[in-house]
Amino acid sequence: MDFKKLVVSALKPALEGELDDATIDLLVETPKSSELGDYAFPTFSLAKILHRSPKMIAADLVSQIDATPFEQVKAVGGYVNFYLDKISFAHEVLQEIATEGQHYGDVKLGQGNVPIDMSSPNIAKPMSMGHLRSTVIGNALANILGKVGYTPIKINHLGDWGTQFGKLIVAYNKWGSEAAVKADPIKNLLNYYVKFHEMAEVDPSLEDEARAWFKRLEDGDEEAVKLWRWFRRVSLAEFNRIYKILGVDFDSYNGEAFYNDKMASVVKTLESKHLLKTSQGAEIVDLSKYNLNPALIKKSDGATLYMTRDLAAAIFRKNHYHFVQSLYVVGNEQREHFQQLKAVLLEMGYEWANDIHHIPFGLITANGKKLSTRRGNIILLEKVLQDAVGLAKKQIAEKHPELPNADVVAQEVGVGAVIFHDLKNERLDNFDFNLEEVVRFEGETGPYVQYTNARAHSILRKAKIAPAPEVALNDPAAWDILRALGDYPSIVVRAANEYEPSVIAKYALRLAKAFNKYYANFKVLVEDSELPARLAMVAATTQVLENALHLLGVAAPKEM
Ligand code: ARG
Repeated sequence: MDFKKLVVSALKPALEGELDDATIDLLVETPKSSELGDYAFPTFSLAKILHRSPKMIAADLVSQIDATPFEQVKAVGGYVNFYLDKISFAHEVLQEIATEGQHYGDVKLGQGNVPIDMSSPNIAKPMSMGHLRSTVIGNALANILGKVGYTPIKINHLGDWGTQFGKLIVAYNKWGSEAAVKADPIKNLLNYYVKFHEMAEVDPSLEDEARAWFKRLEDGDEEAVKLWRWFRRVSLAEFNRIYKILGVDFDSYNGEAFYNDKMASVVKTLESKHLLKTSQGAEIVDLSKYNLNPALIKKSDGATLYMTRDLAAAIFRKNHYHFVQSLYVVGNEQREHFQQLKAVLLEMGYEWANDIHHIPFGLITANGKKLSTRRGNIILLEKVLQDAVGLAKKQIAEKHPELPNADVVAQEVGVGAVIFHDLKNERLDNFDFNLEEVVRFEGETGPYVQYTNARAHSILRKAKIAPAPEVALNDPAAWDILRALGDYPSIVVRAANEYEPSVIAKYALRLAKAFNKYYANFKVLVEDSELPARLAMVAATTQVLENALHLLGVAAPKEM
């Protein structure tokens, strides 16, 4: 039941001719304090149109509104405040959650395929914090969009092609060893690459060698391809270790190399539409009418570029998946690239370019400074996750020494803490990473939400009777919990519309806080007539916390 609709339809007859439904819906807000009602309608914008005082309009509206579905409707200043009938609200919400279970909050906003370009690290290079963010944000968005009816397709657009592979092959042949690559692939491949650049400063002929090797690779030379495949395979194996820890998988690993044979036709189309221009020996598409820098399609040496591959990828995804939206979860620093990508596609006459959305995000910092993404960060990432698990283990041992499965739970809590911390911040915000803070069991953390859920489960385990949502619950102290429970479906909608997992994370914190406040002040397991209904509320809380954590890709242990 959507209680906001109740408010909108109560206001509607009185506002006929003044405001349409959608505008009323937009204006109705949730007051900061429940003393000011459960919903409020501000009259200020109406006052400007009608040239009357907000106060008078509010009083007028109250006299016209049919208040039967509500406990009370009251004018306060320029607001009309609506108080819901708490008993019937509790009844409806608890019933609904009990019936729908893990499907509570499923809404149909749309349907069809939505490819999500996410993670996308570069072969033979360490995965950066940015790739980690892209991975967890992309995964949460896939879950959220799946909940509202779409079919997400998670694509890891690996950076697995480019002139750097010529350099890498030269360096490997000169200074590398199979054993070293096998022992620690990314670290050693990176070292070779760094060494190549050092040596090439004194010996420029190395660059020619690298070019020749890359040419061999492009021409399908067996030896070159074999090495490239191997570098790709061992790098991916390392990335997969991280993905496994995070619990993230992909529907496709088609990276840049996949588009090698798909770019010629893009360039041909650009030519036939007279969009290509030569500038300083390079082929570009002029985008000045979009106020953008030109898009580079071909370098002077004929090598195709990042942009050209993304054009081919966008077109491939449209033809292959027939997408209704196509998302790219990539750091904010690539904003212009995606603006250019859309603009070029529009110039080519592809209307569907408007369904492409870049989902940018901010940086992870440490003490306010950008984390270095240069060396060895894959090790760093794994280490961060391991340390988080270690910290979780320590706290669990203190709080719950005889917990069965303590290792599994510590894993779920430690990793969940890192994911939750990433997702509770608004996507575009930069945020600081301090491990101790992230894994705390109190405060705005993942473990806090998980712990609340486990605590609620332990109440249910201790109860001697079953929850009964059909029993009336007249408990003013439970109101904040019930309100939060009832808000969940609209929260999912907002998260989906804004591509913003933080909406879900913040909501989980709100529900957990409301529950803990109640738990700190009242005993749930008192044997009175409302006990079965209170238990239904506890059960509903676990259900919704679990649904929310699940959307974020965070585990919800029942005991911890
Ligand atoms: N590999 C790129 C990087 O690390 C990210 C790729 C993003 N996806 C895309 N289709 N351009 O910066």
